[in-house]
Amino acid sequence: MIMYELEIISEPNIAPVSQVPQNFGLLYSASKSQSDVLCDGFGRIHNYLRISLVERCNLRCNYCMPEEDLDWTSPEDLLTDEEIIRIAKLFVEQGVTKIRLTGGEPLLRTNIEYIAKKLGSLPGLKTLAITTNGLLLKRKLPALQSAGINLLNISLDTLRPNRFKEITRRDGLNLVLDAIDFAIEAGYSPVKINCVIMRGINEDEIIDFVELTRNKPVEVRFIEFMPFDGNRWNENRLVPHVEMLNRICRVYPIEILEFGRNETAKMYRVPGFLGQIGMITSMTDDFCEGCNRLRITADGHLKVCLFGRAEVNLQNAMRNGVSDENLLDLISTAVGSKHARHAGMHLIATSKNRPMITIGG
Ligand code: GTP
Ligand code: 5AD
Ligand code: SF4
Repeated sequence: MIMYELEIISEPNIAPVSQVPQNFGLLYSASKSQSDVLCDGFGRIHNYLRISLVERCNLRCNYCMPEEDLDWTSPEDLLTDEEIIRIAKLFVEQGVTKIRLTGGEPLLRTNIEYIAKKLGSLPGLKTLAITTNGLLLKRKLPALQSAGINLLNISLDTLRPNRFKEITRRDGLNLVLDAIDFAIEAGYSPVKINCVIMRGINEDEIIDFVELTRNKPVEVRFIEFMPFDGNRWNENRLVPHVEMLNRICRVYPIEILEFGRNETAKMYRVPGFLGQIGMITSMTDDFCEGCNRLRITADGHLKVCLFGRAEVNLQNAMRNGVSDENLLDLISTAVGSKHARHAGMHLIATSKNRPMITIGG
């Protein structure tokens, strides 16, 4: 039997709530039932998989990637189309019902249409989503929609052209705005708009973004700025969601909506407006208790928590001929080692992770 080492990097800043077993590098052969494989030590069932298709991006948002160039993974070390499809199929067979394609910018992946089509036809998959910066969306959407993409999240942090250029270090605001309208016309409802709010950068646009929800079926999601390697996070630049809500309440009445236990966003609406408002409160009020997410990085590592350093190299295992059964053992052991929650913003800010651009959110 071939044995595969789990590449677990220790996380000194996080108290291991469930102890990693001593024989962590060994495979265990007891077969697990479908729901067990993706269930962690806290009973959380993981039915949402985020797959990063590329590390690179056609924007350079400073909150997402370091200013200096990264050590990009060479193309042959990125997952191939068939490796992605194999992993996705395996996870869907274990109960995953939602897959989100991320990046970098996922629309830069050659063959994304092929990958989406293959994933879109997996029996049992209900949601096939993309998080994109929108620049290439208009051109790619028709094929992606027929491939089965049924949920779109578009990143947009400002409605002002000059500011767009400052934040992203590129032009393109009109392309993104057009893409949002195009997606709405194509029937996506709501189109989710991800807006990372940073103090001194764009917090003065919160009301303008709320206005977008007046006549458009969009869900504008205000996101608390989160620390990742190289993004120069500091607490002063974080605008807590309570402060964002207060700003909104000074201008509009708002209604609290129900939202699911697994959702990242707490939901609100201005009564009478077509769209909705979300608050993604990772830093000041984490939602780890309902976490149902796992991540595959573009270089083939399984990451059980956005903010955790622990990773398992599935690509290595696959390239060494691992069987599906043994791959599931690796996955199951990693999921079993997931912590109850992230370590809190101060510890996250000082501990090592990846830059956001190579995780995909
Ligand atoms: P839906 O599937 O439509 O709910 O989208 P999502 O919020 O899961 O994903 P999206 O890619 O739109 O990400 C929006 C924001 O939520 C980004 O800032 C992500 O980094 C953050 N986010 C996504 N998943 C997690 C998570 O598991 N934990 C935390 N803390 N933040 C997350
Ligand atoms: N904090 C919060 N959200 C971030 N995103 C990227 N970097 C950060 C950060 N530092 C968001 C992007 C994108 C999603 C995948 O993650 O806006 O919409
Ligand atoms: Fe690219 Fe999105 Fe990161 Fe911006 S936030 S650099 S668009 S991956």
